[in-house]
Amino acid sequence: MRIDILTLFPDMFEGVFGDSILKRAVNKQLVELHTHDIRAYTTDKHHKADDYPFGGEAGMVMMVEPIARCIEQLQSERTYDGIYLMAPDGAVFNQRKANELSMLNNIILLCGHYKGVDERVRELFVTEDISIGDYVLSGGEIAAMAITDAVVRVIPGVIGDSTSALSDSFQDGLLSAPVYTRPADFRGHRVPDVLLSGNEKLINEWKLEQQLIRTRERRPDLLQDPQ
Ligand code: ADE
Repeated sequence: MRIDILTLFPDMFEGVFGDSILKRAVNKQLVELHTHDIRAYTTDKHHKADDYPFGGEAGMVMMVEPIARCIEQLQSERTYDGIYLMAPDGAVFNQRKANELSMLNNIILLCGHYKGVDERVRELFVTEDISIGDYVLSGGEIAAMAITDAVVRVIPGVIGDSTSALSDSFQDGLLSAPVYTRPADFRGHRVPDVLLSGNEKLINEWKLEQQLIRTRERRPDLLQDPQ
């Protein structure tokens, strides 16, 4: 899989992409991650990528031309399965969407900034708007990082233990059971006996029960509207 990210702030991605699971996935050649500086696709000498909105609203709007030039350059090199705009008014991202995107070959994540992007970017290029939650971020970069991480971790082979991503919260529509490691007793707070029992059947039953309890307590909406 290949993910191309279009942004005004490519440096923001260095730390997140240069570490941990994402870096390992790139090194194992399970994914290619590329950032593109939208400003490099401007034609004026000041590398202007935003301008005042028509109609006189406050704030700046990202211009269509540099974004179009960047997308068309990438499209001339390969076919893309989807172009996703990071925007607070998009459909809210979830595990199902992460799984769905992980099955595509090439995708573009476009990071909006300022007041937003010129609507013609949507009309001409965008497959779908994606939000990571009902709050407004300063830009789409953090959303693109979150989505990249969630998508890449479910690509087969990315996580060492192949069952590990499948047992994440949300994968079966439920939150995960609590987990423990040594010591078995910390200041009188003991690990549940069943986890020390070695009885796999009882352990699995306990985990499922805990998943149901947690989900009912914290996210009853997941039980009504399974993902
Ligand atoms: N840009 C600003 N806020 C956002 C959000 N909640 N999700 C995705 N992109 C955004």
